[in-house]
Amino acid sequence: MKLLLLGSGGREHALAWKIAQSDKCEKLFIAPGNAGTGEVGENVPLKADDFEGIRQFVLDEGVDMVVVGPEDPLVKGIYDYFKNDDELKDVPVIGPSKAGAVLEGSKDFAKGFMQRHNIPTAGYQTFDGNHLQEGLAFLETLQPPYVLKADGLCAGKGVLIVPTLDEAKRELKEMLGGMFGQASARVVIEEFLSGIECSVFVLTDGKDYKILPEAKDYKRIGEGDTGLNTGGMGSVSPVSFATKEWMRKVEDRIIRPTVEGLAEEGIDYKGFIFFGLINVGGDPKVIEYNCRMGDPETETVMLRLKSDLVDLLEGVATQTLANRTVEFDSRSAVCVMLVSGGYPEKYEKGFPMSGLDKVLPLKGGEGSVLFHAGTALKDGVVVTNGGRVLAVSSYGIDKDEALARSMRGAEQIEFEGKYYRRDIGQDL
Ligand code: AMP
Ligand code: GLY
Repeated sequence: MKLLLLGSGGREHALAWKIAQSDKCEKLFIAPGNAGTGEVGENVPLKADDFEGIRQFVLDEGVDMVVVGPEDPLVKGIYDYFKNDDELKDVPVIGPSKAGAVLEGSKDFAKGFMQRHNIPTAGYQTFDGNHLQEGLAFLETLQPPYVLKADGLCAGKGVLIVPTLDEAKRELKEMLGGMFGQASARVVIEEFLSGIECSVFVLTDGKDYKILPEAKDYKRIGEGDTGLNTGGMGSVSPVSFATKEWMRKVEDRIIRPTVEGLAEEGIDYKGFIFFGLINVGGDPKVIEYNCRMGDPETETVMLRLKSDLVDLLEGVATQTLANRTVEFDSRSAVCVMLVSGGYPEKYEKGFPMSGLDKVLPLKGGEGSVLFHAGTALKDGVVVTNGGRVLAVSSYGIDKDEALARSMRGAEQIEFEGKYYRRDIGQDL
């Protein structure tokens, strides 16, 4: 099979790495990819949301399946674009229709969906600019801290958690006043939930689903979960509190009602569902849905997925997922993200990187696999090209051994301003 994977981050390198291991993968293209994906497949200089360019490429190369990494093309409707094109309609796109991607694209829709299907989540109300007074009054009924969420996509920046009522009122006015443009024309205000988070991933063909290994990501820049939010500084899988019993609750109360709810509402959804969960006193609740895999969770989840990913994707495309099996690797996996100095604020790019070849390879399970995120090739040299630069992922008999191996790799790689957290998984 010829596959085209869209995207260019660490998540896509991890997906590409796993896809390329499949006997069913005859050729893998990544658009646009990065310096790392080029090592496991062929990079194609097309943006992930250049639908016309992708169309032409798929037809010219005879691509058999398109796998979508990031949410953006899905929210913009790449699934529907293929379905509505006579020449493309038989090429499966792994990822939901535009209507399904709204689970991630609109927080208000997601909350309403959960309410309709009795899926546990924080209590909430949504307000637009014409209902500011009602929004302010609703804030007064809540306990601090206050959670305000822009309804639309804001590249991970649309959620504010503020300690005082005064601040919450001020932020609500600013959000509705256009702080995040059209994305905050509506604001979801919700109850604050206290607990530890866990990311659960599912592949669904619209009828059945398979649960993939869960993971926990670390969003803050500083050790001990301090400082600014980032795209993710590392991840660990498995997650100790995601026991069989807890996962049964997740499946019964959240996963099954979600997949059935999508079908009941006539929403075409064939792809990944990412459940951002929080464990509140032993009970899982949904913080958010995403219509894609997590980053940097994928950089550990792919290590723990033993089964052939292309076989599973084929099951999604042909609605035969029920006949496929998912096997987990019993080892732990930890990913440590190397980032540019200054990130997530101002940082410089273009620094040459060295030492990548010194890192013991994953072979035999002792070393690490390097998933490129923000890297580029410049005159044959790998240079930094983003805030999150490179993920170092390793196995271990437990999370401590996996972390120690990733630490060793992280030390060996050098570039100006390199920073990483040393405490991934240590809170569990
Ligand atoms: P979201 O983009 O919805 O995932 O929110 C970003 C982050 O804000 C989450 O990963 C949580 O850490 C936090 N968060 C969101 N909603 C809540 C809530 N209701 N209670 C506590 N923390 C929350
Ligand atoms: N790691 C969280 C996300 O991908 O949204």
